[in-house]
Amino acid sequence: MKNMKKFVVAATLIIAAAGLVAVLAGCKGKKAATNLVGVVMPTRSEERWIKDGNAVKEGLEKLGYTVELQFSDDDIPTQTRQIDDLITRGVKVLVIASIDGSALGQQLENAAAAKIPVIAYDRLLMQSPNVDYYVTFNNYIVGQQMGNILVKGLSLDAPKKKPVIIELFAGSPDDNNATVFYNGAMDTLKPYLDNGTLQVPSGQTAFTSVATLRWDAAEAQKRMENLLSRYYSGNVVLDGILSPYDPISLSTLEACKAVGYGSGNKPLPVVGGQDCVVASVKSILASEQYATILKDTRSLGAATVEMVDKILKGQTISGLDTTQYNNGAKVIPSLLLDIVVVTKDNVQKEVVDTGYHTRAELGIN
Ligand code: BGC
Repeated sequence: MKNMKKFVVAATLIIAAAGLVAVLAGCKGKKAATNLVGVVMPTRSEERWIKDGNAVKEGLEKLGYTVELQFSDDDIPTQTRQIDDLITRGVKVLVIASIDGSALGQQLENAAAAKIPVIAYDRLLMQSPNVDYYVTFNNYIVGQQMGNILVKGLSLDAPKKKPVIIELFAGSPDDNNATVFYNGAMDTLKPYLDNGTLQVPSGQTAFTSVATLRWDAAEAQKRMENLLSRYYSGNVVLDGILSPYDPISLSTLEACKAVGYGSGNKPLPVVGGQDCVVASVKSILASEQYATILKDTRSLGAATVEMVDKILKGQTISGLDTTQYNNGAKVIPSLLLDIVVVTKDNVQKEVVDTGYHTRAELGIN
């Protein structure tokens, strides 16, 4: 009997302890959920999105949030699945850099139904009222600067004996940024095209004919090769390329090198770019790519972290632009950050001294 009592007491204690463990585990799960922020980036195969993802994750974790960071391999079904999964897991805010800005309508509706605020990160989420904020750079100015890089690099304001020859490239047609960049660049270049200072031998100037699906550098390289063999067979020499993105700058330069540019009487064309990727900064230092645009992912990450924190604390977010970004359903309040044009002259000051890339990464002493 005594033994039986002992057994019952021990069993009760074990059950109680197990219960306590379960309750604690439950609390722990709950605690994570109340703090959980979902961050979805388009791909891990581009340098900038890895930096972006890490900047947001680290910043939020420093403030005590739990972060689920996912990369979508540039695959739309993967991205929709990841977002649906994060909604099911009860994230409190979603930060999304889309692949195709118009492909997430259903997911955004699901987020709204679950009362999850959504921040469009760098790329605007289109055709949906269920987007709360947009954090990005001033993309129209980015485009203008892409144009200005050619104005300066090709000295278009100096008197010319013959037209300056260029070809044009734009980014992915399903990314709203690509159109904004192109419009900014073309508004800057238009006076020079109109007065004949600039000429485009292929005649390909419409966004649809110069766009590059998924910003694919190999696709752009192929298009450059075709343009060179079709329109540059005689003694027409390409002087410049409008490029929206560093890997496209590098791949189109490769296409030019393959047909003799960069030696003899055919200097490499002047080409800008965007994102300040390591390979492009190295190319700038080697006097090949002419310039790039630095969009400091650390600042974008920090601005996003602050926004998430304010949303979750119910605080007001100030400094928003409420005119520029209509996503087709409504104007999205946007935080627009500044950019910096980087040429060989200011790599040290803007890239190295700010710690964006180290001298070791750039292969300099
Ligand atoms: C970003 C650019 C980036 C491009 C390709 C755009 O949406 O704004 O910074 O170069 O996507 O990833």
